[in-house]
Amino acid sequence: MVQLKTLTFADLITQQTGFAGEGRLTDFVSRYDGELYFGDRLNLNRLVRQHGAPLEVVYTPQITMQVQRMLNWAAQARIATEYPAAFHYAYATKANFAAEAVQTALAAGAHYETSATADLIIAHGLWRQGILPRDRFIFCNGSKEPAYREAIRNIRLDGCETVIPVLDDLTELRDLLDTPVTLQFGVRERAAGNRDGRHPGNDRFGLTADEIEQAADLITDTHHTLVLYHAMVGSQIEDEDHFLNTLRASVEHYCRLRRRVSTLRYFNFGGGMPTAGYQLTFSFDYRRFLSRLMITVRDLCAEYDVPTPELIGEFGRYTVATHSAYLVEVGAVKAGQAGQPDWYLVNGSLMVMLPDTLFVSGQEFVILPLTDWDKPVRPVRLAGRRTCDSDDIYPRPEQPPLWLPTTDGGLILAIFGIGAYQQMIAGRGGAHHCLTPEAARFIVEERNGRLSSRLTPQQDQVTIMRLLGYRPQPTALPTPLPFRQPVRPAVLPARRRVRERVLPV
Ligand SMILES: Cc1ncc(COP(=O)(O)O)c(C=O)c1O
Repeated sequence: MVQLKTLTFADLITQQTGFAGEGRLTDFVSRYDGELYFGDRLNLNRLVRQHGAPLEVVYTPQITMQVQRMLNWAAQARIATEYPAAFHYAYATKANFAAEAVQTALAAGAHYETSATADLIIAHGLWRQGILPRDRFIFCNGSKEPAYREAIRNIRLDGCETVIPVLDDLTELRDLLDTPVTLQFGVRERAAGNRDGRHPGNDRFGLTADEIEQAADLITDTHHTLVLYHAMVGSQIEDEDHFLNTLRASVEHYCRLRRRVSTLRYFNFGGGMPTAGYQLTFSFDYRRFLSRLMITVRDLCAEYDVPTPELIGEFGRYTVATHSAYLVEVGAVKAGQAGQPDWYLVNGSLMVMLPDTLFVSGQEFVILPLTDWDKPVRPVRLAGRRTCDSDDIYPRPEQPPLWLPTTDGGLILAIFGIGAYQQMIAGRGGAHHCLTPEAARFIVEERNGRLSSRLTPQQDQVTIMRLLGYRPQPTALPTPLPFRQPVRPAVLPARRRVRERVLPV
């Protein structure tokens, strides 16, 4: 048994996960020759040597892998359960609207799920350019204000037959019924949103059972059809039994509705699929979940004597949470109050980088040091050095501290699991809290098996001032905000099994 006072970071990780120090640690991070790799291919230590910190690393092949793995598991589950109908993977773009994320998910075979007018306008543009192929669905969720309905009409009148507005209220339906060409509609079941009492905010979406009946009546006798039933239980649902038990009642509602609406053919189980991005010890058997879902749907349909529906999943977090990371430097260490952990002050803002830490109770992120795994660990909390906000800390006061290698400064930390929602909530390209500049962004994409990369520099003072309405005066500009100077080693260390083609930009 290793004594606590000599516990190194490597020991700690071994204790927590069984990881021996080399090889794959999780789906998205590996370690070889003492250096960390994203997706088993992209050397993060080397990136910091080349480009400094803070740095946002966007590694889109991870998205491709996420989509393809889920499609494979679904195919295996269909064979294992003899599920007779298709499975469709949709990317819930609200998790990350960045072009590189959306286009990668589409290229991997995903359908598109929209949440707002602007989102659908983007989808329409991608559809026109052929980036969103014609055989893909566009599921339109959320409450539809007039502009959103207009955008639905526009894409449909442009010839897109696969756009499916999923009704959130009957006003939307009454308005859209005027569309002169056939629309396929979906209904969202309101009861699913908070059936378990855990998601009060989810209770506002969709239609009551009575409204669903009214929607079915209104659509009958028109040239439109009702094709889809949508039930969304929550987000990051790690309890497989709970997920399935909560969906079961929705499947029964689907079956009852199917008895009177013969055009109904899709059961959409919504978001909620958990990501591995937040905890090193995460485990969820996706294939087993899909098999059990298929068995539940198949058996209930047999009981109600209705055909088995095609299944649709809308994957937000699952698709993108793991494809990006922030690399930040511990710029200074400040002693904690008596008996409290010390503060590691990082060259960024945790509030801006990880807004979920503020409003998702107990939200965690995977944080790993790039070096110093052989140093003793100590309990610490991180604080954003680029704001003066008392809330700019992680972990939150009610959470236990992190255990990280001892340092006096200079340690680089990789914060993983940040690809879903964080940047959309904090905003990309804006003026942020205490004018924290956005980190330089290193985007890696894969084409024909080769990785290519591009670098966007750290947001500069002039940009921030312009966004806020100032006319920057060159003579009055302060010296650039501190950025850890890249150190370019004369010879890059070789790594066994190097497959990357990422070149300095
Ligand atoms: C209708 C709908 N589908 C899918 C999602 C994506 O959920 P998740 O990120 O849990 O996959 C959301 C998220 O809010 C949603 O509202």
